[in-house]
Amino acid sequence: MRSHYNGDLLTVSAGETVTIAGWIHRRRDLGGLIFLQIRDRSGIIQVVIEPDQPELFAKAEDLRSEFVVTITGEVRQRPEDMVNQDMVTGTIEILAKDLTVLNKAAPPAILIDGHEEVSEELRLKYRYLDLRRPEMQEKLLFRNKVAKNLREFLEAEHFVDIETPILTKATPEGARDYLVPSRTNKGSFFALPQSPQLFKQLLMMSGFDRYYQVVRCFRDEDLRADRQPEFTQLDIETSFMDEEAIMGMMEKMIRQLFIQTMQIDLGEFPRMPYAEAMQRYGSDKPDLRVAIELVDVADLLKEVEFKVFAAPANDPNGRVAAICVPGGAELSRKQIDQYGEYAGRYGAKGLAWMKVKQVGNGVEGVQSPIAKFLSDEIINQVIERTAAKAGDILLFGADSNKVVTDSLGALRLKVAEDRGLVEDCWKPLWVVDFPMFEEDKGHMHALHHPFTAPQENDVEKLKAAPTQTLSRAYDMVLNGCEVGGGSVRIHNQQMQAAIFDILGIDEQEADDKFGFLLEALKYGCPPHGGIAFGLDRLVMLMVGADSIRDVIAFPKTTTASCPLTSAPSKVSAAQLEELAIATVEKKS
Ligand code: AMO
Ligand code: AMP
Repeated sequence: MRSHYNGDLLTVSAGETVTIAGWIHRRRDLGGLIFLQIRDRSGIIQVVIEPDQPELFAKAEDLRSEFVVTITGEVRQRPEDMVNQDMVTGTIEILAKDLTVLNKAAPPAILIDGHEEVSEELRLKYRYLDLRRPEMQEKLLFRNKVAKNLREFLEAEHFVDIETPILTKATPEGARDYLVPSRTNKGSFFALPQSPQLFKQLLMMSGFDRYYQVVRCFRDEDLRADRQPEFTQLDIETSFMDEEAIMGMMEKMIRQLFIQTMQIDLGEFPRMPYAEAMQRYGSDKPDLRVAIELVDVADLLKEVEFKVFAAPANDPNGRVAAICVPGGAELSRKQIDQYGEYAGRYGAKGLAWMKVKQVGNGVEGVQSPIAKFLSDEIINQVIERTAAKAGDILLFGADSNKVVTDSLGALRLKVAEDRGLVEDCWKPLWVVDFPMFEEDKGHMHALHHPFTAPQENDVEKLKAAPTQTLSRAYDMVLNGCEVGGGSVRIHNQQMQAAIFDILGIDEQEADDKFGFLLEALKYGCPPHGGIAFGLDRLVMLMVGADSIRDVIAFPKTTTASCPLTSAPSKVSAAQLEELAIATVEKKS
């Protein structure tokens, strides 16, 4: 139906006749002349209808927004004073000769060409209209470009794209499973994969050597801007490559992606041990665009009479640290209180503060509700340690290590964002040397997943000091967002059994859940490892979107529902009967 996309018309010489197809983006009737903006996925072009063609003119008068049309006409240069710098095709227009309405359209429920604020609920209900908006088209077209670029890299490196099951068994990635009842095995359920982790490991055992898949994963967890219940991973596994080789190749892939799609060289990615990331940035995904760091001051405060500081300063599981906010002395009491409330969300019981007016002048040089508890010497030492300058504010956390690390880690980002202290740049890094396990109320959890290899190869030594053992896991972090994570895996059955044992998974449970993997490890398993990237997150960062919902065609709301299809929805009694499922009304 069309001879050209709008976006290609700049290459057409003036005077040539073309046919375009698309939607009426705008129509302006200037009495004597009608101007149309016609939109297709490549962009918008202006079409002029002159009154010397009465039949065409009459047709154009009936056109409304979002009618679907084809137009044939002559490309011509716009007069200089009519050039529109905001439009890619702003130097040209089409003088219409013929017009066909392919379909009419009801007035759209959301404006395609406007900048009006519409609720996300409405945007998702009419997603097909929302997706017509040029900025949404751009995002999804860019996503396609990213996926294509990554595939090309992997294909060139001899990775094989292999599909893995969606109806499967639980994969432990730390979230709840989405379950699917089985009709043929009543009372039994499939789990949708939280990731293809076990299958990709089995593919290594099958000898495929290098696997990748752009694959949907399902996790029933609390949703946030960077989390969806179903999301896409670029999932990768390799044999005979250690962590150095895997990280090297993956870094090359992401650098190449940025260079080829955005003309940005991310440079070499620094590596940071997990412990350092937690210490300095209070996060396992540090945003290095923000210069503010957590500075430990417990050693200076062990003897002070202020119990809020002295107690955690003397507790081996406690932490006392400060962040220095440049120029923060101008913060009002109200603003400081709001930051205190923010820190409270992460468990902080208060937020002690100290405004620095003069460096090196003890109590006299600061304004702070806690100054009265501290000596001149200690105040000077704290200021020196934190490198605070006149006009800055110090914000203190004093509590358990976890509370201080989490709350100051989060506060550092919040304050930086509020005060324009986030540098406009790209800061990638690898976080490495994660602990194998985390202890929570006497229970051990795997920090990555239970198939991750420890740095300690001796099973006995590992069992003796599990919480001190580091893993062979690595995360790729970009601007404070975890875009990918992976590890070298266990390829030896004794070690895998030992890890299950430490995690409190007994033999019976291990056998029920992962018996097939343990069995497979017996039959000649190569050393292997891999990684998975969150494709949605990566694209979100690249296009500068605030939420991954903006780079997913049909996302779910934050309550994991779809306003367009009304999923999830009730099913018929007959369907439930067939599945041998009874539902119970929850008593409120
Ligand atoms: P992990 O659980 O770290 O590792 O997931 C890999 C990457 O997937 C992205 N991601 C998400 N994106 C959107 N919404 C979510 N709910 C969500 N959850 C995770 C993140 C994350 O870095 N099997 C392992 C990988 C491996 O070891 O190879 C895994 O799934 O960007
Ligand atoms: P209080 O003596 O409890 O009134 O606290 C004095 C100051 O210390 C106030 O500014 C509190 O916000 C702050 N504060 C109290 N508990 C903590 C804590 N755990 N960490 C940091 N500051 C705290």
